[in-house]
Amino acid sequence: MADHDQLRADFESAGQGHVFAWWDELGERARRRLARQLAAVDLSRLRELHAAVTALAAPHARSLAPAPVFELADRGFPYALADAARAVAPIGDKALRDGHVAALLVAGGQGTRLGFDGPKGCFPVLPLTGMTLFEVFARKLRRVGLEHGVTPPLYIMVGTHNESATVNFWQDNNFFGLEPDDVKFFAQGEMPALDAEGKLVMASRDALFSGPDGHGGVLQALHVKGMLADMRARGVRCLSYLQVDNAQTPVADSAFLGLHIAQGAEVSLKVVRKQDPTEKVGIYCLDDGVPGIVEYTEFSEAQSNERAGNDLRYWAGSIAVHAFNVDFLTRLAQNGTDLPLHAAHKKVPHVDRDGNTVEPAAPNAYKFERFIFDTIPLAGNVMCLEVPREEQFLPVKNTDGPHSPEGFKQAYQDYFGKAVETATGKRPPAIEVDPLAAENAREVIELAKDAAGWDLTKPLHILG
Ligand code: UD1
Repeated sequence: MADHDQLRADFESAGQGHVFAWWDELGERARRRLARQLAAVDLSRLRELHAAVTALAAPHARSLAPAPVFELADRGFPYALADAARAVAPIGDKALRDGHVAALLVAGGQGTRLGFDGPKGCFPVLPLTGMTLFEVFARKLRRVGLEHGVTPPLYIMVGTHNESATVNFWQDNNFFGLEPDDVKFFAQGEMPALDAEGKLVMASRDALFSGPDGHGGVLQALHVKGMLADMRARGVRCLSYLQVDNAQTPVADSAFLGLHIAQGAEVSLKVVRKQDPTEKVGIYCLDDGVPGIVEYTEFSEAQSNERAGNDLRYWAGSIAVHAFNVDFLTRLAQNGTDLPLHAAHKKVPHVDRDGNTVEPAAPNAYKFERFIFDTIPLAGNVMCLEVPREEQFLPVKNTDGPHSPEGFKQAYQDYFGKAVETATGKRPPAIEVDPLAAENAREVIELAKDAAGWDLTKPLHILG
């Protein structure tokens, strides 16, 4: 019991003794579970949590300026990336052939906004077959393998809440044709939540509330779960980082990787032109002269609306697609670098001081996350590439609106339908492109040249 007394004393002196409020009524197993959970809380971090709450209420004044971006060479459909990127695609091809590239997919979020009860990657997205997000990524990766003779290994970050469901899904589907040994799952860390008085939130009488520590948790998780070591052992030098919600993003694309390598960048990112000043995307810009992403919430209305000629001054919206050097992430992780914590005011179900379960109707507590893009200011060199929106950024995030499943299907079919129309003069009533066959309109236009047999009066499924 001595351990428990010490634990209790530690929590009481940190002003968090309420977590033991129901201790006396708990059974032996529940006590052990709670004690284990509490022992894992680093109380010295509470100050950091409080600082994040303060920063949320009063964000520090920023001195912002636009950052350099390799802009599109052609803004007309079917678009062209910057000449500089297309010129160095062979460097990316070589890195892929040499087995220096892996894909890192973050899939540990809770998907609350989508209202889907399961890992987001299991969500069926494609319009004709209902292919799931995970399968889309697997098939894109297989295509990279067919083209370069080497299939990059895939590292998937999950949350403790969806780890077994995710692993089972991949196993049940025979890893969608990938080598099981080349698909690695690892769980991210968790963070507690604080209520308005700065007290740790209890999920129940015998458990603290905790939630995923944000996609920035990937840095620590890659390190502690041995994934960086696994990458080094495989000779992987560069990561193609992707969010599971964006089915339209290319995986390990040569032009992006080539430019990342040719520019000697430690981190690279892709941006699209912001559609309007209110679009909710993080903006790539200089903050006190240092490149980074500033969340839309931290922009003043005046800054969001500022113009430079016909364009928004801050137009470079991050689509959360990156390239990272493994050496860079290893250096950060080994130095124990902590990415900053960001607080968010959210509805967190909990037990109140009287032990009653509460489903709050309004935000009641602060959750904490780290963001992967906070590595950008720490990088020796950063490269940013503009990409065409419909070609590379059609995320599924919400139940309705442009980033809903329906919004995705419509934009996806418009984009690929337009490619078929450009090549043949006719648009099919519906279309799906197997990610093994093509991943953008330029490739579909090429395929259409040899497709005399396509019946464009019916839904068109372009197979790989
Ligand atoms: C994010 C970016 C935003 C960018 C937008 C593009 C942040 C704070 N903002 O917004 O700048 O413009 O994407 O789509 O990230 N995830 C985890 N673990 C977590 C939390 C999230 O793996 O703990 C994963 C999710 O599964 C998802 C991705 O990270 O794949 C994005 O998370 P989400 O919280 O939905 O980001 P957004 O708010 O949409």
